[in-house]
Amino acid sequence: MNYCDVVVDLQSGDTGKGKVTHSLLESGEYNLVLRYNGGSNAGHTIYHKGEKIVTHQVPAGVLYGIKSLIGIGCVVNIPKLIDEIKMLNDHGINTDGLIHVDYRAHVVTEEHLTEDGNDTSIGTTKQGIGPCYRDKYDRKGIRITELTYDQSRDKYFTLVDSLPFFKDARILAEGAQGFELDIDWGDYPYVTSSHCTVGSVCLNGISPKKIRKIYGVAKAYETYVGTKDFGMDCEELLKIQILGQEFGATTGRPRKCNWIDLNKLAYAATVNDITHLIVNKIDILDKVGRYVYIEDFERHDAGSRLGLISQIVNALPDNIKVVFSDSPHTI
Ligand code: IMP
Ligand code: MG
Repeated sequence: MNYCDVVVDLQSGDTGKGKVTHSLLESGEYNLVLRYNGGSNAGHTIYHKGEKIVTHQVPAGVLYGIKSLIGIGCVVNIPKLIDEIKMLNDHGINTDGLIHVDYRAHVVTEEHLTEDGNDTSIGTTKQGIGPCYRDKYDRKGIRITELTYDQSRDKYFTLVDSLPFFKDARILAEGAQGFELDIDWGDYPYVTSSHCTVGSVCLNGISPKKIRKIYGVAKAYETYVGTKDFGMDCEELLKIQILGQEFGATTGRPRKCNWIDLNKLAYAATVNDITHLIVNKIDILDKVGRYVYIEDFERHDAGSRLGLISQIVNALPDNIKVVFSDSPHTI
């Protein structure tokens, strides 16, 4: 392996990782994209050649004809994966020979979907994620390689051992969900069942010594989907939801909005030891005309766009390159 750069979400998902990954791939620096956690609970919205494409399980590399791997730490919904690949093909994206799944990744079953479909406690995406990871850790799960071989799947994806894939590779690792949803670091129990921090990349077989750049992604405000109380207690936050089009890519549910919490952002930046921070959607605050942030559990008004930018930069650990991006298409 030559190197591995990582894209990791510092908030509760939906910060624009899909866009960041897609933009980074344009550089031609990478020849393998690794998805390192989660399953079809993710929804990555990408604008590719002017078209809006939402992916759930397929790593963004395929859009550029780059080999893509769904890693050992992921869980796979096979019918949904095939539907997604067909959807990409219908958009004219050739996926032939590009999509690979580690043979040890676990399978989301009908039973997992039924059980999770009845969840009312934390507001899951109902994609069977919790039950699937539970069965994996309970040693009752099904690895994808255990399923009866079905030749018709070969034209969509192949099962592989990840390790040989990493040899001589220049990797971009694409995360799903985010820090606040991490099973260990997140706001338990309002979390997903996978690891959403940079360490998760290594669990997929990447040497920690090969990790080069770590791109943390955040929004200039926060969103969260699920049952816990979160923001939405003033007119401006309601406006942010509408103007920011904060509706789930997987479930269509409205995302609850709150102001950015700088203590949490700095904490997530530290745990992930990010080298770069991309802050998306500050243009939405421009439209609302308010630049509020949370520090030490209190709301403060930064007064202006520049005021908020300097508060964010000052809150971070040293030596992080910060980019503020206003475009839904690129960074
Ligand atoms: P699960 O991952 O479907 O089990 O859902 C657990 C929690 O994580 C719920 O609050 C979901 O709304 C949230 N969640 C899971 N995936 C995503 C995502 O990709 N974006 C935002 N929230 C997510
Ligand atoms: Mg999303």
